[in-house]
Amino acid sequence: MIMESSPGGRAPAVDVGGVSRVFTGRKGASVTALDDVSLTVAPGEFVSLIGPSGCGKSTLLRLIADLDTPTAGSIRVFGKPARQARIDQDYGIAFQQAGLLPWRTVAGNIELPLELHGAGKAARRARAAELIELVGLSDFADNYPDQLSGGMQQRVAIARALAESPSLLLMDEPFGALDEMTRERMQNELVRICGETSAAVVFVTHSIPEAVFLSDRVVVMSPRPGRIRDVLGVGLGDTAERGENLREDEAFFHAVSQVRELLHGEAPTGARGVETR
Ligand SMILES: Nc1ncnc2c1ncn2[C@@H]1O[C@H](COP(=O)(O)OP(=O)(O)OP(=O)(O)O)[C@@H](O)[C@H]1O
Ligand SMILES: [Mg+2]
Repeated sequence: MIMESSPGGRAPAVDVGGVSRVFTGRKGASVTALDDVSLTVAPGEFVSLIGPSGCGKSTLLRLIADLDTPTAGSIRVFGKPARQARIDQDYGIAFQQAGLLPWRTVAGNIELPLELHGAGKAARRARAAELIELVGLSDFADNYPDQLSGGMQQRVAIARALAESPSLLLMDEPFGALDEMTRERMQNELVRICGETSAAVVFVTHSIPEAVFLSDRVVVMSPRPGRIRDVLGVGLGDTAERGENLREDEAFFHAVSQVRELLHGEAPTGARGVETR
């Protein structure tokens, strides 16, 4: 699925144009983390970034989130400069570590962004209850983070990222620390949540099956300087409709081996659906 211009004339969720990021170290040595990266993510689209360690995936995500600024190029989120999108709370963030406040309950953690932005108590309560239900933690609303498993903590972090109904989720290896079964369950839940909220997602992962299962497109990056090597349209149908059975599907295995070949720098077999940049 090629999405250069978004349907209905809406601005893309993310528009990265010719972005480079050079880190200058002490003694003047510099690292080019990203070199001339361009990427467009449509509203509601799920895009994964995959590539070797140090290729600039987290850097790209941080730039989109306005936690860092590019050395060159432009970043727009829903047509606005990244800074404005941050101010407008257009996106939610979930990173590898859940990053919960240990002295707050599950509900308290989820309510935090709402509280920071001045939502009233009743509205906060109601929204948190809704989200707790969504991530399947209804029996744990009053528990503290250290009373939860890693997967449950991660679900709290995702609920918190969703608190303000963002149209965009930025996720950096959110399931990296989870065991394989919990991870697959979280992937199923994320697919369902995205279906329900229609949020666009930029998702960083090291897992090829995870990228394929979740994504409309998989962006394969090359080692330093980080560049986009290829973009694979996964073509497994609507992500929200994807279920457990897909993991056993021939088309799924095919897409997995295509991504693997792209990562290893080979031309993919049966390269349908591949946009090369
Ligand atoms: N704040 C920083 N200062 C200096 N160099 C940095 C900084 N942040 C990242 N880098 C460098 O930029 C490059 C890309 O780092 P980045 O964290 O984006 O990689 P990554 O693709 O997320 O890797 P991983 O898969 O290991 O998380 C690396 O060489 C890293 O050393
Ligand atoms: Mg990283």
